[in-house]
Amino acid sequence: MSTAANELTVRERAVATGPLDVTRLRQDFPILRQTVDGKPLVYLDNAATSQKPQSVIECEAHYYTALNANIHRGVHSLSQQATDAFEAAREAVKCFINAAKREEIVFVRGTTEAINLVAASYGQRLRPGDEILITAMEHHSNIVPWQLACERTGAMLQVAPIDDTGKLMLEEFARLLGPRTKLVAVTHLSNALGTVNPVQHIIDLSHAKGIPVLVDGAQAVPHLKVDVQALDCDFYAFSGHKLYGPTGIGVLYGKAALLDVMPPYQGGGDMIREVTFHKTTYNDLPYKFEAGTPNIAGVIGLGAAIDYVSAVRLEAVAAHEHGLLAYATAQASEIVGLRIIGTATDKASILSFTLDGVHPHDVGTILDFEGVAVRTGHHCAMPVMARFGVPATVRASFALYNTCEEVDALFRAVRKAQEVFA
Ligand code: ALA
Repeated sequence: MSTAANELTVRERAVATGPLDVTRLRQDFPILRQTVDGKPLVYLDNAATSQKPQSVIECEAHYYTALNANIHRGVHSLSQQATDAFEAAREAVKCFINAAKREEIVFVRGTTEAINLVAASYGQRLRPGDEILITAMEHHSNIVPWQLACERTGAMLQVAPIDDTGKLMLEEFARLLGPRTKLVAVTHLSNALGTVNPVQHIIDLSHAKGIPVLVDGAQAVPHLKVDVQALDCDFYAFSGHKLYGPTGIGVLYGKAALLDVMPPYQGGGDMIREVTFHKTTYNDLPYKFEAGTPNIAGVIGLGAAIDYVSAVRLEAVAAHEHGLLAYATAQASEIVGLRIIGTATDKASILSFTLDGVHPHDVGTILDFEGVAVRTGHHCAMPVMARFGVPATVRASFALYNTCEEVDALFRAVRKAQEVFA
């Protein structure tokens, strides 16, 4: 089959699998109307942060315009309205990931803080010789908190390897699950490779040995329907800003039975029941883990983002992005000197690559001249770069508002970069 025919087939598939009215949806995102150096903005850096729909922007503005007050503290009307809006957002998160109880939803700054919370609090039960098992495709935020916990306790980090496609080597993972393993911490979707991990299988294997599992869902939640009860994961962490919501807000889901026996992460207001100089007792879940005035506007904005993606339907978003990824992968495969980093069968929304003879940062700069925004670098996953023997990659990552025409623009710019550096 000729290249053009091949591209057409893939493009047709992208269109056929894309039930979204993307032209209409794009109107919800004011930033997408921008130009860069006179060229339309092609925003393909969604794995770093996604753009925000007008409803989220207006929701935050409305909070500061009409509702601003501290929560859980005042009897006055504004405080009660702000508290109601804040707790309604908690309910929205609970439904979004199908948690059993609202007490299991802890608001934090983002995925990084969620994992640090578990490492600092749950990690207190680690003893010398205990092991934490992660994978070789983790983001630094699912490596370094465990290294810190290991330094504090004498526990050890174990790393399950990945193969040349970027797929987790499950037999090795299973072999590393031993009597000393006290926790498994694994990404749902790799930010550097796009690999989707078989988290259900990982959880089943771990639970068969009585080992709890934390899932880093930062990249997965905007692209895959997550049901924490069906997964039966013990902890699930994600950020608002990759889910079309505000920055500085995220969620730690934890099973109530675990959170209940975990010591507080930070001390301060709202997380206490009673304080004396002699002894302090702690508040109920989830407040025990929410010390200080939280990011109230961020939480309410996250609720609006969840309303937005729920109305669009994540299943439709996933199908659309799958089509875009297939279309982009087919185009990438036609470019001589382009190496895709991450070719696992089960992938979502992320295309990482290198170009022979051109540093990824230079590719990124040429792409920017063409209005195309991608991330270049190690993507906070240096061990992944080391595994594939590259210092960095160019990463295009897709969201619900991206189009085949934008993928075309990406590869026109990639060819231009090749010409410039030929
Ligand atoms: N973790 C984010 C990324 O992968 C920032 O770009």
